Amino acid sequence: MNKPVRAKDLNVSQSQPAIEIRNLVKLYGDHAAVDDVSLNVDMGVFVTLLGPSGCGKSTLLRSIAGFAKPTRGAVIVGGRDITHELPYRRPVSMVFQDYALFPHMTVRQNIAFGCEMKGQTKAAIAERCRQMLELIHLPDVGDRYPAHLSGGQQQRIALARALAPDPVLLLLDEPLGALDLKLRRRMQQELKQIQRRTGKTFVFVTHDQEEAMSMSDRIAVMRDGRIEQIGAPEQIYRNPATAFVAGFIGDANMIEARVAATDRDMLTLHVAGQNWRVPAARVTAETTPEVGASMVVVVRPEDMRIADHGREGDLVLTARLDDRTFLGGRVRLALTSNEGLSLVAEVRQQDFAQLAERVEMRCSPADVAIVAAAEGNRTNP
Ligand SMILES: Nc1ncnc2c1ncn2[C@@H]1O[C@H](COP(=O)(O)OP(=O)(O)OP(=O)(O)O)[C@@H](O)[C@H]1O
Ligand SMILES: [Mg+2]
Repeated sequence: MNKPVRAKDLNVSQSQPAIEIRNLVKLYGDHAAVDDVSLNVDMGVFVTLLGPSGCGKSTLLRSIAGFAKPTRGAVIVGGRDITHELPYRRPVSMVFQDYALFPHMTVRQNIAFGCEMKGQTKAAIAERCRQMLELIHLPDVGDRYPAHLSGGQQQRIALARALAPDPVLLLLDEPLGALDLKLRRRMQQELKQIQRRTGKTFVFVTHDQEEAMSMSDRIAVMRDGRIEQIGAPEQIYRNPATAFVAGFIGDANMIEARVAATDRDMLTLHVAGQNWRVPAARVTAETTPEVGASMVVVVRPEDMRIADHGREGDLVLTARLDDRTFLGGRVRLALTSNEGLSLVAEVRQQDFAQLAERVEMRCSPADVAIVAAAEGNRTNP
């Protein structure tokens, strides 16, 4: 299964990025479903396109597959420009949310389909089907029809069918969306294992940020047809580049601030009637903001501490406790600061036991991210 991409057959090179998208635009009328997207993904990487409904994830994926014709830009797979190639000639396969298996064909015939299109020999196809059924842990269902399989089994067959022709890229458009939560979790792990074992490049689409965080090597966060940020899950969580990304990935306290002063490596922010000093390095945008600029201080709930006494330099807000939710060993608190900001914090249960009604919320300046305030963004969680 781990054999390299057959560069000779596919006219692609293993040393090139698996996919390179250059300034891709897809217009429907005058609406840009994909708006000048550029993206590079190395071979063997699990990359996820994540974003709200309508942000252009499927359109981007369909442009790579050849089911949508780009208005401008280029799609290059393994160094080969496929922008204008017919879908079935591309070294890519797609897996859909509704499986799209051929109902009148057996599982084996479904899996063999792509290999037959490529004119492989009967013996090679039979061997490939066997390998694929083994890969998805369903060695004995080859003669069954899709309607006689469960949703999870059908999705595994769809995966096997897509992988059988040995594509350079596997495109997966919300492949787990139709499964119930428990099965979905199991399939997430299985999909990830199959990706690791085959060493294939997966481009996976979801609007579920937890799914994206748990499965991906890289996440591209999309909004309104554009990629707002791309990076490893931890990087996107810790260093969101924009207020939108901060709010979309995980929970975040988003605290409005104005830049009061800048020096070489520290920033003074005016927040809720106080001055907060934070390292300039915690500004996640590329440029250092100017004095007077409107910013948002992003604080993850788990980085909020509740303590009357803290460390020198802590950022502090005094708040009233509104609500609590037990999450096993931890407690989630909803609070309102003296200035009226809604805040969330997650603390250990033992810390929570001693809470007064009014508390000091502290966080370390090293744990916050500073992003530009954007119009239309929520300022509270
Ligand atoms: N064939 C089409 N004709 C016209 N507009 C389209 C077409 N396909 C998509 N769009 C529009 O392009 C935008 C992006 O759609 P797309 O399906 O790519 O979003 P998405 O991110 O996949 O959303 P979802 O999470 O709901 O699947 C939407 O505004 C949609 O209405
Ligand atoms: Mg979609």
